[in-house]
Amino acid sequence: MSKFILFSTLIILTSCSSRQNAATGSSDTTGRKWWKEAVVYQLYPRSFKDSDGDGIGDLKGIISKLDYISSLGVDVVWLNPIYSSPNDDNGYDISDYRNIMKDFGTMADFDTLLLEMHKRKIRLVMDLVVNHSSDEHLWFQQSRSSRTSPYRNYYHWWNGERGVPTPRWSFFDINSDAWKYDSLTKAYYLHYFSRKQPDLNWENPQLRREVYDIMKFWLDKGIDGFRMDAFQFVAKDTSWPVFPKGYESNIIKYYGMGPHLHEYLQEMNREVISKYDVMTVAEGAGSTLKDAMDLVDPARHELNMAYHFEGMDVGNQPNYSLLDFKKVYSKWDSAMAEKGWVSIFLGNHDQPRMVSHWGDDSPAFRELSSKMLTTFVLTMRGTPYCYYGDELGMSNIRFDRIGDYRDIATINRFKHLVGEGGDTTAFLEEQKRTSRDNGRTPFQWDNAPNAGFTTGTPWIRVHPDYPAVNAAAQEKDPGSVLNYFRKMVRLRKDNQVLVYGKYTLLDKYNPDVYAYTREWDGRRLLVLLNFKGTTASVKTDIDLGKAKILLGNYPAPSGDGNLRPYEAVIYEL
Ligand code: NOJ
Repeated sequence: MSKFILFSTLIILTSCSSRQNAATGSSDTTGRKWWKEAVVYQLYPRSFKDSDGDGIGDLKGIISKLDYISSLGVDVVWLNPIYSSPNDDNGYDISDYRNIMKDFGTMADFDTLLLEMHKRKIRLVMDLVVNHSSDEHLWFQQSRSSRTSPYRNYYHWWNGERGVPTPRWSFFDINSDAWKYDSLTKAYYLHYFSRKQPDLNWENPQLRREVYDIMKFWLDKGIDGFRMDAFQFVAKDTSWPVFPKGYESNIIKYYGMGPHLHEYLQEMNREVISKYDVMTVAEGAGSTLKDAMDLVDPARHELNMAYHFEGMDVGNQPNYSLLDFKKVYSKWDSAMAEKGWVSIFLGNHDQPRMVSHWGDDSPAFRELSSKMLTTFVLTMRGTPYCYYGDELGMSNIRFDRIGDYRDIATINRFKHLVGEGGDTTAFLEEQKRTSRDNGRTPFQWDNAPNAGFTTGTPWIRVHPDYPAVNAAAQEKDPGSVLNYFRKMVRLRKDNQVLVYGKYTLLDKYNPDVYAYTREWDGRRLLVLLNFKGTTASVKTDIDLGKAKILLGNYPAPSGDGNLRPYEAVIYEL
């Protein structure tokens, strides 16, 4: 697997408590929580809706579309970073954590957005990007100014007189080198991501206090939680041991879950999180189930849930195996059956489009396979995260030319290959399947120019299928992907068995069909998902004769378990 495919795989809420154990129906272990019952809608602000014609989505644009978001039935929005940033990595390089990026608007716009969301009973989760800052952040400017600056230890420096630093691999650096020499103080600084994203030094208690103050600033404004970017990487072994050759192909093992990570998280929980009723989700879950459990075990008072990337890894193979996919999701479900909680997702801003990645975006199957995948995300145990545009079945744009790409990951890898004399044609071909930009194209509102996203020139090209694939057209069609998405969200919200119910995999070795039951509180639902573009059948002991069909993605859903291409059916048994 190339490192850059690997990168795309990395990019890793407390109310009433019930006395019933969600998993088993016995005594309470995990308890009911609003963040378990929520359906999260992830929105890439740059590409959602532009209000001022500069070609870049913005907060006023989002405000103008809140009724649409509300109509989806989702109750949490996760916004990718909207803080001040020079945009080396589209906002994941923050130069001021307490301000709004100019492209996106003002703090007054933010306050309106939050108010209007809350009026509609939609909660807001923000990205917290504190593995690194921008090199344009005042902290870094101060830190690099002198070896004796009070900010020097906010970052990781290696003084030049010690010689060349122990090698560290970087995700975005053209040379893959995570150390950058800065002649100003004759020292190297660490950047796991781009040169403009220097890593923060979590060993410094003052830095940690700064982060907690930033968190409080936003939480006191009333936001409802944080998605914690690259959090598994924040703690580093600063004795800088030499890693074995080839370690970069197993980067989570070497970079993840460093010394003191859990102490930092427990401190953060004590100082900040425990004081608010919020949702916290870590990007990344380490490399073992124990790593993940240590992050989310409620008794440890760290975070609520984590993303794992094993599912994404399965899909990065061109013809992924459904058996592997089932194995991964079943393993994670059983690991969290008694305590802990995970996120369920098939797409985000670091991944290609869900339907292109996991389904079939050809005209014959785009709608059916999108609906089938939506059924999976919304019927598994774990909080579902749905990525903007997937509710329409938006698909990969598949750029032909490097000039169309905007993502630093693609661009720098391309430059690297050019420098090495590598095969750029094969790389561009691979990017059509894997590039993050596939998942970042503007939301397709209607059939007006630029899909109604902007009246200006969009920062990244709009998918040319927008005249046919857009929200306005789908609004009018009761059988559209959009209206199926709404029905599926409603079904989950109305049936807590889909949130808390015990998951049991059926017909384990069926290579085409994913079949499982969810059971809770005397109810039992069966989910049948044909992941293939051919007919398939499922073998279970269940007599479907008396089963009631709750939802299916064909006008007349299968009543007997013989499934048509990409058919999805949910039965009440
Ligand atoms: C993970 C984010 O999801 C990704 O978009 C970003 O490039 C890296 N972290 C660096 O912040």
